[in-house]
Amino acid sequence: MDSVWEVLRPLNLLAGFSAYAAWRVFYALYLSPLRKVPGPFWARISALPMFYYDLMGKEPDFMRENCQKYGSLFVMEPDKVGVCGFDECQLILNSHAFLKDRRYGQVDFIEPNMFLTRDPELNKHRRRQIGPALNPASLRQMEDTILAAGPQQLMVKWDSVIAQSIDGKAHIQYFEDFSDMSFDVITSLGFGLEHRSLTNGDSQMASWVRKATLLIFVQMVVPILSKSPFKQTILRPLYNGVDQFLQFGVRLIEQRKMSDERRKDLLQAFIDAEDPLSKVRMTPAQITSETIINILGGTDTSSNILTWAIHLLLLHPEYLQQAQAQVRSHFAPNHLIRYEEAKLLLPFVEACIYETMRIRSPGNNLPRSIARGGVVLKGFFIPDSCTCSVSIATCNTNKDMWTRPMEFYPERFIKNPEDKRKVLTFSAGVRVCPGRHLAMWEMLSTLANILNNYDLELPKDSLFTPKNTDNKGQPVIMPYRQAITCSPRYPDRDCIIVVSKRN
Ligand code: HEM
Repeated sequence: MDSVWEVLRPLNLLAGFSAYAAWRVFYALYLSPLRKVPGPFWARISALPMFYYDLMGKEPDFMRENCQKYGSLFVMEPDKVGVCGFDECQLILNSHAFLKDRRYGQVDFIEPNMFLTRDPELNKHRRRQIGPALNPASLRQMEDTILAAGPQQLMVKWDSVIAQSIDGKAHIQYFEDFSDMSFDVITSLGFGLEHRSLTNGDSQMASWVRKATLLIFVQMVVPILSKSPFKQTILRPLYNGVDQFLQFGVRLIEQRKMSDERRKDLLQAFIDAEDPLSKVRMTPAQITSETIINILGGTDTSSNILTWAIHLLLLHPEYLQQAQAQVRSHFAPNHLIRYEEAKLLLPFVEACIYETMRIRSPGNNLPRSIARGGVVLKGFFIPDSCTCSVSIATCNTNKDMWTRPMEFYPERFIKNPEDKRKVLTFSAGVRVCPGRHLAMWEMLSTLANILNNYDLELPKDSLFTPKNTDNKGQPVIMPYRQAITCSPRYPDRDCIIVVSKRN
C-alpha cells in the first residue's frame, strides 16, 4: 500500500509526466518517420491541437491555416498527415489500397454497409448492387417523388406562410426548412412513404435517425463502447432506437414485396437490385442498413449546401440578380422546373451551387490508412504505420489550385467548366459519393424553383450583409460549426430571409 502511495506522490507524478513529455518531444524531433514533413510543433507531440479544433467545430480552420503555413502536406497529429494538394488527394482516393481508417470498421451497425465497410470487395459488391439505382437514368424515373417531397413541398409551405403575412412578406428560417425537406426527399425515396416532416411535423423517424447518427459517431470516437458491457448499458437506448428503425424498415420491405405495386423509388430499386457478377440480392436487413446510411449521408449534406447557397447569394446581390434573371428569362412563374431543364438552361445557377460546394463543403477530413509499403507524397516517404486525412475543405480552397480561393465567385465555373471536376466535395475515386447525382438533382431543382418564384431579401437587422466586409472587401460569411457536416453556427440568428412572391 505504501509503495502505491509512494508512486502516486505528486512529485513522482510530475517526474513521470515530464519523462513522458521529454520522450514525446525526442521521438517527434529525432525518431518519428514524419520528422522531416513540415507541420506545427504541437501537432507532432500530441493530437490535442486537432482535438481542440474538432471540439470547437473549427476543424477546417485548423487544416486551412496549416496548409497556408506549411504547404499541401503537413503533420496534423503525431502519426498522421493532412493532405490538401489535388494530385495527392486523387492518388489516395483513387485506390482501394488506402483503406478507410480503422475507426470505420469498429462500428457495429445492423449489417455491414457501403459507407462503414473497410473491405474493398464488399464495397465493390454493394456498388454493383445499388449504384445503378442512384444513377441519372434511374433518378429520372423517380423525379416526381423528388420534386413532390422537395421543392413543391417547400413552396407549399412558403406560400402558406406568405399568405398568412400582413404585407405579403414572410420571415423564414431556411436552414430548418431545407433540413426537413432533404430528409423528406431521401426518406420518400428510401422507404416509399409520403413522410412530409416539413409540412406535417412528423418526428418519429427523425428521432431514429438522430439515434443512428449518434450510435455511429460515438463508436467511432470511443470504440470500446461497442463492446459488452457498454453495449448493453450506455449505448442501449441508441441500439433500441436503431432496432426499432430496423424492424420498421424490414416490415416495409416485406409489405412492398407482397404488393403488386411497383413504385419508382429507391426502396423498389434496392429490392430488385442484383450484383451482375454474383447474382446476389440484398436481404431486408441489408437494404434497411443501406437506406439508413443514405438518409444520414443525404440529409444534412444537401440541406447545408442549399443553406449556404442562399446565404452567399444574399451577401452577393449581383450574383443573386444574375441567377434570378437567368431563371426568369427561361421560365414563367409557377412553372415547375425539372432537373434536366435546369441543367441545360441554367449554367449560372449550377455554377452558384458548385461555388457553394467549393467553399462550404459539408464534409471535410476523410481519414485513410496509408497503403501497404508506404507512399511518397510531395517528396516525403510516409510509411504504412501512419495514417492520413484528405482535407476536402482545404483542397477546395488551396491557393495552388484556385484563383481568389476564399471568394464566392461562381463565374469561375462559367469561364472554366472543367474546374467542376476539381471540387472534391463529393470525394472522388473508388469511394466517391454514390448519392452525388441525387444531391445535384435535389439542390439544383430546389434553388431554381426558389429563384423563379420568390424575391428574397435580408431582414433589416441581419448581422451579415453585403456591406459588412472583411479587410479584403469581401462580405463576412456567417460563422460555421463543423460537426460531421458544416452548418451555420447560429441558424436562428443568421438564417432568416424575407420571402415574397415574385414581382
Ligand atoms: C450534397 C450532398 C452530399 C455530399 C456533399 C456528400 C459527400 C460525400 C462524401 C465526401 C463521401 C465520402 C465519405 C468518406 O469517404 O468517408 C460520401 C460518401 C457517401 N455518400 Fe454522400 N454526399 C452527399 C449526398 C449523398 C446522398 C444524397 C446519398 C444517398 C443517396 C449519399 C450517400 C453516400 C454513401 C452511401 C457514401 C459512402 C460511399 C463509400 O464509402 O463507398 N450521399 N458522400
